[in-house]
Amino acid sequence: MTTISSVLTINQPHIPDFTNPLGLLVHCHERIEAQLSALERAGEILRAGDTQSLPRVFAAIDGACAHFAIPGVKHTEDEEVSLFPRLRERGGTARDALAAMTELESQHRRGEQLHAEIDELVGILPRDGSAEAKELDRFNELVAELTTLYRPHILLENNFVFPIASEVLPASEIQALGEEMRARRKDILQKLEASRSAQAGRMV
Ligand SMILES: [Fe+2]
Ligand SMILES: [Fe+2]
Repeated sequence: MTTISSVLTINQPHIPDFTNPLGLLVHCHERIEAQLSALERAGEILRAGDTQSLPRVFAAIDGACAHFAIPGVKHTEDEEVSLFPRLRERGGTARDALAAMTELESQHRRGEQLHAEIDELVGILPRDGSAEAKELDRFNELVAELTTLYRPHILLENNFVFPIASEVLPASEIQALGEEMRARRKDILQKLEASRSAQAGRMV
């Protein structure tokens, strides 16, 4: 369900599509930012001990973890498998981006460790309001570290690496980037198409 919702926005008129892959990557960042904010808000509510909100809070946490587990992983592949190698091939013309990409890749690895730790903690966290203060503190610490990692990371990509890519990559390479991103989501797009067809069938 989450995997389908992650691409529901693609193909809407105001959202970039695969013909504008760099715009789509920026849009993916907005979705990541929204999930980070959801995790931060969830941590605040958990700490406040509002037991009535627990089902809603854990639904938000599960949604964020699912987003980072599938669309988030595909996004990292978009960058590391499809975009960064193309920029590296440009060598001199993308020289300013080379060091940035190495740093971004190391941040991706740290992000993966943090996601694994968060997933593990969320898996054992009691959902009935009986979680210990130290467990909730750990959750909030991990989320704080994740947001501290992601926010400058996203700014560096949006404001530095992607503009360089748009400048140095020829249109054919940008198009190939978009096609690879589309292929990476083929399974999700097929499910989305099937669910839309089923819906249209019910409306007839
Ligand atoms: Fe990245
Ligand atoms: Fe990114």
